[in-house]
Amino acid sequence: MIHNSVLVLGASGGLGQAMVKKFLADPKVDLVVAVSQQIQASVPELPVRDDLVWIQSEYHEQAMAEVIVQLDPFKATFSRVCICHGILHDADMRPEKRFEDVSAEVLRKIFQANSIVPALWLKLLHRILQGKQPCIVAVFSARVGSTADNRLGGWYAYRASKAALNSLLQTYAVEYARRAKNIKLIAFHPGTTDTQLSKPFQASVPEGKLFTTDFVADQLAQIMASAELDGQLSFLDWEGKTIPF
Ligand SMILES: NC(=O)c1ccc[n+]([C@@H]2O[C@H](COP(=O)([O-])OP(=O)(O)OC[C@H]3O[C@@H](n4cnc5c(N)ncnc54)[C@H](OP(=O)(O)O)[C@@H]3O)[C@@H](O)[C@H]2O)c1
Repeated sequence: MIHNSVLVLGASGGLGQAMVKKFLADPKVDLVVAVSQQIQASVPELPVRDDLVWIQSEYHEQAMAEVIVQLDPFKATFSRVCICHGILHDADMRPEKRFEDVSAEVLRKIFQANSIVPALWLKLLHRILQGKQPCIVAVFSARVGSTADNRLGGWYAYRASKAALNSLLQTYAVEYARRAKNIKLIAFHPGTTDTQLSKPFQASVPEGKLFTTDFVADQLAQIMASAELDGQLSFLDWEGKTIPF
């Protein structure tokens, strides 16, 4: 009988994988469900085992809704959800240094992955999370999404996509507080962490400030364990410190 499940969305990334591993090692967790656009065989660090369900999916709304149908047997057992999606660069795009670099194509691509996909999950997840089981939902955001903190400029699309994400999360938090009081939302900044996403920028990270994914997974698991169902969105960094919006 499954009592306590965890859901990791965007599970093949550096931080997604670390969250899956962290929860698999937790004796209080019966089952980890991982959702990714990748097949499980492409993530050798997460081999097949009975307490890990891997669901491969695309990220358009119909495919995501079908994932929710597959999760129905575990309805109301989820105590933790991590939404790990996020892109900053790929073979064809680099973060903008100046406004001449801004392009509609890059804005669309980055908003799709960083803001729209998490927003659709939060719409669809309500049906399977709502209930008596307290459920902490951590969505990977970033400090650069803080408008109050934006003194450096640059990184137009990524920065704006995370600010939009935070705004969407705040609006979800208001409605979830009315319609699903068992759910708490956290916008989480992991700090600069050694993954594909940060690879091109790691040279400028000060000594001791580039975190391992295991360290960040430990920090987030602790933050989630001490979170309260207060009906509010918290914007927290890896130390559990509040970041201004
Ligand atoms: N690493 C850092 O220094 C750092 C700093 C601040 C914030 N963050 C945030 O932390 C989160 C995890 O990043 P990471 O460092 O683990 O990066 P990563 O290793 O590059 O992982 C990329 C993540 O994005 C998902 N993804 C890739 N393309 C996507 C698309 N087109 N649509 C939707 N999802 C897509 C992947 O999910 P699949 O498994 O489905 O491919 C995976 O969860 C992101 O939100 C990132 O912005 C990271």
